[in-house]
Amino acid sequence: MKYVIGIDLGTSAVKVILVNQQGEVCQEVSKAYPLLQPQSGYSEQDPESWVEQTAAALGELMATSGVRPEDVEGLSYSGQMHGLVLLNEQRQVLRNAILWNDTRTTPQCRQITDALGDDLLRITKNAALEGFTLPKILWVMQHEPDVFRQARCFLLPKDYLRFRMTGVVCMEFSDAAGTLMLDVADAHWSKEICDRFEIPDHLCPPLVESCAEVGTLLPEFAERVGLRPETKVFAGGADNACGAVGAGILSPGATLCSIGTSGVVLSYEDDATKDYRGKVHFFNHAQSNAYYSMGVTLAAGFSLSWFRDTFARNESFEALVAEVGSTPIGSNGLLFTPYLVGERTPHADSVIRGSFIGVDGSHRRSDFVRAVMEGITFSLHESIEIFRREGKRVDTIVSIGGGAKNDDWLQMQADIFNATVLKLANEQGPGMGAAVIAACGCGWFNSLADCANAFIRVAKAFHPVAEHVERYRELYRAYTEVYPATRSISERLQPFRR
Ligand code: XUL
Repeated sequence: MKYVIGIDLGTSAVKVILVNQQGEVCQEVSKAYPLLQPQSGYSEQDPESWVEQTAAALGELMATSGVRPEDVEGLSYSGQMHGLVLLNEQRQVLRNAILWNDTRTTPQCRQITDALGDDLLRITKNAALEGFTLPKILWVMQHEPDVFRQARCFLLPKDYLRFRMTGVVCMEFSDAAGTLMLDVADAHWSKEICDRFEIPDHLCPPLVESCAEVGTLLPEFAERVGLRPETKVFAGGADNACGAVGAGILSPGATLCSIGTSGVVLSYEDDATKDYRGKVHFFNHAQSNAYYSMGVTLAAGFSLSWFRDTFARNESFEALVAEVGSTPIGSNGLLFTPYLVGERTPHADSVIRGSFIGVDGSHRRSDFVRAVMEGITFSLHESIEIFRREGKRVDTIVSIGGGAKNDDWLQMQADIFNATVLKLANEQGPGMGAAVIAACGCGWFNSLADCANAFIRVAKAFHPVAEHVERYRELYRAYTEVYPATRSISERLQPFRR
């Protein structure tokens, strides 16, 4: 039997999975690394921790799986998007990576919008948002000019990890689309944008397709983790593109809800002509000549992990969310908005913060947990509503990630989205998309879709219950009123934040 490895470089941890030719996950290992938040709005990571923890995870995967190194044909990546890694002439990291959920760059976003006007949407198909890479590059230019002067190349998180494993510097289109420097429809770096902001050509790495074989493992790295240096390495994709691949979102009409640290609702697009006027993101898919549109909730799974870490540290997630089944729809009158680090869709706003509305002396912890889960789901529903208003039919949604691990939450998604929600068997999130890319790269299948068809199976369907849909509709109306009602309060509280 032959195998491939999918490496998912997430925000809180790296997960590696070993997948055989039937698409079965034979072994998985996850290793965490810290998020550095030196002040409110800042979110950074040390790229060395990605390399160290990936090597540790791969070493453990190989040591515990019993699989022979020569049977692992190839590997590929899925990665947290947008994070800025700057390298000097010697390819050394110049500063900590600035991540997708860092919101320090509001002034740079304004600068980009003012300088480019309508050209921004024409070229990149996206509005300037704090999370994207170009505003981070401008921030370093303006606040750390000495660092910027030494920069010779920028990479995104998984591209840096791949460079450390292979010695090859490159970036692939699905992640490059999130930099705000790519001409998305024509798939090349935009000279117009780089020139406008005096970004030298050498800063932008060569671009490749997701399934491209970029090289093989460096002998030292291979030896360290117990793999062969001949193991083929394929470029991989952005975590959301890989989530889509691993869930079979590879044809028009297919929609995905993925709840990781962030949460996204994503829909396949077969050409780049659709114009959402920047209301949702529009990126290149990991499949060639395909795209996806996407709404993002910045703090989805993060809202729940924040709640647990702050109020129920000794409790497992399973135990915490198990309480929601016995709590009624509406959490006994408690509403939560998940704006813990600001928001993206539909309110691109780095200042807004979350709230619990309706706290009552009778509320128990279980009400708060359910309110957090309902608030995350309402926020994702706002993206679905945008898609529907734009004429998309959204009646079936594949759910992956943390939100797919609990049947009560899956039913909640079906009732709030008013759509059938599918749970997959042996769902692995974006890591499975990375494995599918590696399997195609190795020639096991002719296309990502053929591979996804062979690897993916629906385990259960959750259908909306009419009475629940009605109750949630009423609650959702109240939810949408919290943002405008709390916007100016958040602004007044901003000076008091850490
Ligand atoms: C997408 C985004 C997040 C990250 C999470 O635009 O910022 O979903 O990709 O890793």
